[in-house]
Amino acid sequence: MNIDTFLLERNQSLYENSVEINLTESGVEPMTLAELLRPEELDALLQLRLGYNYTEGTPELRAAIASWYPDTGIDEVLVTTGAAEANFVMCWSLLEPGDTFAGMLPNFMQMHGLAAGLGARVQSFGLRLRNGAWQLDREALDAAVAGGAKVIAVCNPNNPTGAVLDEAEMDALVQAARACDAWLICDEIYRGAELDARPETPTFRGRYEKAIVTSSTSKSIAHAGLRIGWAVAPPAIIAEAVRRQDYTTIGTGPINQYLASLILAPARRAVILERSRAILGRNMGIIDDWVGRSNGRLRYVRPAAGGMVFVGYDFPINSTALSELIRERESTFVVAGDWFGMDGYLRIGTGGHAHELEEGLRRIDRVLASL
Ligand SMILES: Cc1ncc(COP(=O)(O)O)c(C=O)c1O
Repeated sequence: MNIDTFLLERNQSLYENSVEINLTESGVEPMTLAELLRPEELDALLQLRLGYNYTEGTPELRAAIASWYPDTGIDEVLVTTGAAEANFVMCWSLLEPGDTFAGMLPNFMQMHGLAAGLGARVQSFGLRLRNGAWQLDREALDAAVAGGAKVIAVCNPNNPTGAVLDEAEMDALVQAARACDAWLICDEIYRGAELDARPETPTFRGRYEKAIVTSSTSKSIAHAGLRIGWAVAPPAIIAEAVRRQDYTTIGTGPINQYLASLILAPARRAVILERSRAILGRNMGIIDDWVGRSNGRLRYVRPAAGGMVFVGYDFPINSTALSELIRERESTFVVAGDWFGMDGYLRIGTGGHAHELEEGLRRIDRVLASL
């Protein structure tokens, strides 16, 4: 199987550890074990046996995950290595060569690339800017599924725009999926990282019998290094996915599963999400000031959720070239809009330390001033 280069991930892997300021992260600054663990939890951690673990995830971890979704049992939850593996095993389970995959843009692009690699016919439909807001382009959705679709994929809250679908848009997606009996894969990895005291983003789980939700501890839950993700789906789909996981990772490690079961238990999850929202809210103020000072040459729709802002710019340079220039001249790394299928934008992470964000923006300003 031939597969396109996954531009965002490849570029991050190449440069994120060698630059002075990395603003490509869309999650939130993690905690250390010392900050996270209570004494009795540390004791339990030290007693863990480091053997193979439950492939599908320990019952405690699956129960903690299930509690974030309505009417969900642990047989409807599969624990994976990040949302990346959840998205992978779901596409791999569902798509055959010649099937139609309809995915939302702009997007992280993992499922678009995978679907193409699996031989599917890839169709896209957009979020488009209308009246100062990112909105689902319903005509494009209708066109993308006109000949039927096996899988429709969305990311809500969206990466990179931070837009959250409203109820009518969610209904439109469910209707489109129902009309062609498609699976609806909903990557909800940024759910819980809402800004401006917005309520938690509703899940697609429970809205459609063929909805599959994927997510992880990496973004709103702030702990990407655990590499714990999950899929929530009907039991038959979970059974097929776990059969395939036997060929990928054979499951995740006991240390990570134990730690994830602690931070995903409802009370602790609420505290962690509160912390994430506080960090993101503080940093958005820095972004607001920065864009405000740009004399209209930078613009953005304030994100509703997520650890990033998608900034459009009015300078005559392609976004990959601009990202490279900022990295080479200022050792500061931002994501090019190109890598999401939308040139003319940069994505800037807002979940890190405020002083690094401020310094990174000063460096970007120096590059922009030289253009
Ligand atoms: C929308 C989306 N899905 C999945 C992933 C991968 O997440 P994980 O670290 O849980 O594998 C990312 C990472 O940036 C993402 O933005």
